[in-house]
Amino acid sequence: MRTSRRAFLDTAARLGAGVATASVLPLGAVDRALAAKPREPANSGAAAGVTGDASLGSHAAAHRLLYGCAVNMNALAADAAYAALIREQCRIVVAENAMKWGALRPTPDGFNFEQADALLAFAEANRMKIRGHNLVWHRDNPRWFDAQATAANARGLLVTHIETVVGRYAGRIHSWDVVNEAIDVADGRPDGLRNSPWLRLVGEEYIELAFKTARDADPQALLTYNDYGTEQETRAGEQKRAAAIELLRRMVARRVPVDAVGVQSHIAAWATQAGGIPVAAMPYGAGLMRFIASARELGLQVFITEMDVNDRALPADVPGRDAAVATAYRQYLELVLGDPAVRLVLTWGITDRYTWLNREEGRADGLPERPLPFDAADRAAPAFFAMRDSFDRRAALSSHG
Ligand code: G3I
Repeated sequence: MRTSRRAFLDTAARLGAGVATASVLPLGAVDRALAAKPREPANSGAAAGVTGDASLGSHAAAHRLLYGCAVNMNALAADAAYAALIREQCRIVVAENAMKWGALRPTPDGFNFEQADALLAFAEANRMKIRGHNLVWHRDNPRWFDAQATAANARGLLVTHIETVVGRYAGRIHSWDVVNEAIDVADGRPDGLRNSPWLRLVGEEYIELAFKTARDADPQALLTYNDYGTEQETRAGEQKRAAAIELLRRMVARRVPVDAVGVQSHIAAWATQAGGIPVAAMPYGAGLMRFIASARELGLQVFITEMDVNDRALPADVPGRDAAVATAYRQYLELVLGDPAVRLVLTWGITDRYTWLNREEGRADGLPERPLPFDAADRAAPAFFAMRDSFDRRAALSSHG
């Protein structure tokens, strides 16, 4: 359970608890109808209307997009319906946890690739692309790291890790999240860099070192800088976007090999009406689109890397929550898909049954959240249809030809 104020703010930012802007966007009539839509039978992944050509992956592919999700490897091994759902819906997958330092590095000299290898086996058997997540992060480092990493050995630790992990899968990875969440403006540095263990031990050049080492280890993989909190139309969002685009500008200017920026997109559904009166707002908009355009102008692709829509701010009733979550997916995706630099969309999980959000602070009423395209019984939620419609509308959305 997180305790510090910083951790709370960090979580709030990651959960997209943005401040709503003034404009009023009523709950879409379509989404209201969808929310009332008779439920698909359980495990509707096998039901007509959401698989094959009707799947998210197929509809995305028809519009030059890759759709996929983060995979819980324990669930993949134990839950055949979960594996089938991913197989039916996804063209790309990423390990939720299995390729982080915490999973790969049980000891300073040892690597455990069991679950990472299992992900590649599953993905390649199902002709899916694979994202690697992540090579450098301030969180989820193994217990020995804090005790044993020093200013003297940290560079070597970083280079050996990246050479070994990226080298093992060279030629088989679509893209790597090389550095994850390196920016935290609240830490007070003029460049906005987070006071990460890597910054303290190696200096700010840890970022450049990580990207160059990854490129040398796998010249084919697209190298991504991934972060959260660049989404909100708030002062904090603007500060984060400014620091992130300046970091990317410095990297490009110094010919650091970076190919893409990840916009995690852990966003929050907003209360679209109270007592039937439209009240609020999509708290995402022009600032995010300026950020995406700036990345495009730097020659970068833009990946929506970890999308989910938490429903914590909403009343308990399920149809109302599902409708607001669907509206959030629809409006957020129709915003970002307007820029042709956006080339892939991954949700952070695919079924509510395994969402990380229910392992976090959760809803005040303790009800399980409903943040993903399929509910906990693998029935296609209104969010599924909203996402698929947004993919279909891409051609009409593109504001850059
Ligand atoms: O597997 C162990 C289990 O054996 C043990 O009993 C349990 C008790 O703590 O922990 C379990 O591991 C947890 C793991 O998730 C699997 O559930 C870790 O403690 C927990 O820290 C870990 O949380 C993950 C978190 O990243 C930190 O790595 C979440 O699942 C994962 O969804 C979340 O994903 C991050 C992205 O990587 C980066 N962007 C933000 C996103 C959400 O925080």
